[in-house]
Amino acid sequence: MLGLATGSTPVPFYQELIRLHREEGMSFARVITFNLDEYRGLDRAHPESYWSFMHRQLFDHIDVPAESIHLPLGIVDDVPAHCAAYEQAILAAGGIDFQLLGIGRTGHIGFNEPGSPRDSRTREIHLDPITRQDAAPAFGGIEQVPTTAITMGCGTILAARRIALLAFGSNKAAIVKEAIEGPVTDRVSASFLQDHPDAAFYLDAEAASLL
Ligand code: F6R
Repeated sequence: MLGLATGSTPVPFYQELIRLHREEGMSFARVITFNLDEYRGLDRAHPESYWSFMHRQLFDHIDVPAESIHLPLGIVDDVPAHCAAYEQAILAAGGIDFQLLGIGRTGHIGFNEPGSPRDSRTREIHLDPITRQDAAPAFGGIEQVPTTAITMGCGTILAARRIALLAFGSNKAAIVKEAIEGPVTDRVSASFLQDHPDAAFYLDAEAASLL
């Protein structure tokens, strides 16, 4: 069971999975996936929805069965019930074996912005202004970026048996340093990974330049 992330960071990882599938016969037929998050208010068909992103970048190119793919819904009436059902579906599928993460400049994992409790679960969250600013180019302006999202919580993520956080580029160097060398605090959700028994950061030289 795989926990998956969106954003620019995992794209090379997904390209390698596609290559392994096409060239080396790796099958995803028995894989179940749960994504971290989805923007609120976006229909699945919206080009910037994470549903669209994941299909474009990965699912359309491998043999994972459609019924094994899970992302929160961006448009849903009863948000708490939807979030509780997402948590329940993760448990029913056996829990997350391997969770892939990126990190936002706010230190978020998933969309767990500063102040997210360690034991938080899937819920609606207000996106930090920095996060919305980083998403603005893709949406053609900050006013088009949704203000909230549905995200797995820190507790949901920390329950994964194994966690890999990827970070690339100099704009991640300061927050990577805080997450790894700073105090474990809800001001930097990624710092909670310090206490996880099997979490690793995979960095390029720029992202690791302040360590
Ligand atoms: C994506 C997610 C976010 C991103 C983070 C980094 O599903 O939950 O935590 O991983 O915002 O985004 P990029 O990779 O675009 O720098």
